[in-house]
Amino acid sequence: MAKFLISKSRPLSGEVDVSGSKNAVLPIMAASLLTEGKCEISDVPLLRDVDVMCGLLRSIGSSVNEKDDGHTIEIVTKNIALQEAPYELVKKMRASILVMGPLLAKTGRAKIALPGGCAIGSRPINLHLKGLAALGAKIVEEHGFVEAKADRLRGGNVYLDFPSVGATENIIMAAVLAEGVTVLENVAEEPEIVDLASFLNKMGAKIKGAGTDTIKIEGVAALNGARHSVIPDRIETGTFMLAAAITRGDVLIKNIVPDHVKPVIAKLKECGVTVEDTDDGVRVRCLKAPLISTDIKTLPYPGFPTDMQSQFMAFLTTVTGTSMVIETVFENRYMQIGELNRMGANIKIEGRGAVVQGERLLQGTQVLATDLRAGAALVLAGLAAEGTTEISEIYHIERGYSDFIEKLRKLGAGVTRVEE
Ligand code: UD1
Repeated sequence: MAKFLISKSRPLSGEVDVSGSKNAVLPIMAASLLTEGKCEISDVPLLRDVDVMCGLLRSIGSSVNEKDDGHTIEIVTKNIALQEAPYELVKKMRASILVMGPLLAKTGRAKIALPGGCAIGSRPINLHLKGLAALGAKIVEEHGFVEAKADRLRGGNVYLDFPSVGATENIIMAAVLAEGVTVLENVAEEPEIVDLASFLNKMGAKIKGAGTDTIKIEGVAALNGARHSVIPDRIETGTFMLAAAITRGDVLIKNIVPDHVKPVIAKLKECGVTVEDTDDGVRVRCLKAPLISTDIKTLPYPGFPTDMQSQFMAFLTTVTGTSMVIETVFENRYMQIGELNRMGANIKIEGRGAVVQGERLLQGTQVLATDLRAGAALVLAGLAAEGTTEISEIYHIERGYSDFIEKLRKLGAGVTRVEE
C-alpha cells in the first residue's frame, strides 16, 4: 500500500495548472453511451475514478481509446453488450450508477448494483429512481441490485426533494431520448450539470435551463457523437487555494473558472487572505497577519461546497479565533476530525456542526485518509504541521487529484509518495 510523507512546508510559491473536473468528466463519459457516434472528450484528468469509468464502459461494450496527449479519450459504443454496472465497480466508485439513465434510455433496460453507504453517509439513490419512474420506467429492487425497464421512456414532470447532483444527471440523461417533454424542478445547479448539458446539446439533445433550478428537456429520437472539453476542477482549484493559505504562501492558480469557486474565495477573504483575479487565473497570498476565523455552512451550489469542507476546516485550525463549520449536504462528513485532532487540532462536533479552535500548532504523525476530501485535508494539515505526516490509504486521494504530489512539489512542498 502506498503512503504520502509530508514535511512541514515553507510558504508555497509559484504557479499551478488545474486539471479537468472529475465530477464533470464522469457523467459525460456515461453520456457517451447514448450514441453510436464517436465522442471525443478532452481535458480529461488522470484519475483512478476515470480509469474505473473506462473499465465500466468497456464492460458494457464501448471501445475507449486514449489519445497520445494522455488527456483526450475517444469513446465509441456501436453495440451495448451488457446493460449492467456490477457490484465490483459500483463499490469502487459510486459514480458508476451514472450509467443507469443512459443505458435505460438507449436500450430500455439497466441493472445496477445498489451502492449502499460510504464513509460520508448512507447516500440513498431514491431520487434517481423517483425521476426514472416518472419517465415511465418500472423499477425493481432485489438481491442488492436495482433494475429499471421501459420500452420507450416518455417525458414527465419531476420535482426533486433535494437538489441531488447525481439524480439530476441520471434523469437528464434518461430524458434526452424520451418521447415528449420533461420538466425537472428543484434540480442541482452545479457547473458539472451545465457541462453535461452542454455536451448533450452538442450531441443533438434539447436541454434548456441547466444551471438553474428548473430544466426543460425536449426528447429527441437519436443523438450523434460530439467533441467536448471538460471544465476545470473547482474542488482541485479550491484545494490549491487552501494549500497556498495554510502555508501562508503566494500561488497563482491557473486554468480555472473563478466564478465556480466564489464561496471559497469569499470565505478566504473573510479570513484575511488576499485573493486577486489575474489574466491567467487567481493569485492567493497572505499579506495580512494574523489570519482570522470564519464560519462555514455547506450547501448545494452556489453555496459553499461540501467537497471543500474538510480542507477548509484544516486551514481554520491554523488561524486566530474559533470557527463554526456546519455540514448540511451529507450526514456524516466529519471523518477528518479524528485524524486532525490526532495531529494536535482541537475540533469538537456539536450537533450537526463542528467547533474549530484556531491557532493550533499541528504536529506530524501517522494518519489515515478515510475518503477523498478528508484525505486532501490531511495533506494540507501535513504541510502546516511540525515534523513529518504519514498518510496511509492514499488511494482515496488519488481517486480525485490528478498529479497531486507533482503539482505540490513544483510549488515547493516536501511531499513524497512511498510504496510499502
Ligand atoms: C456529487 C459529487 C460529490 C459531491 C456531491 C454533493 C460526483 C461524482 N460526486 O455526489 O463529489 O460531494 O455531489 O455536491 O459528482 N441523496 C438522497 N437521495 C438520492 C440522491 C442523493 O437522499 O437519490 C442525498 C445524499 O445522501 C446526500 C445529498 O442528497 O445527502 C447530496 O447527494 P448528491 O448531490 O446526490 O451527491 P452525488 O451526486 O452522489
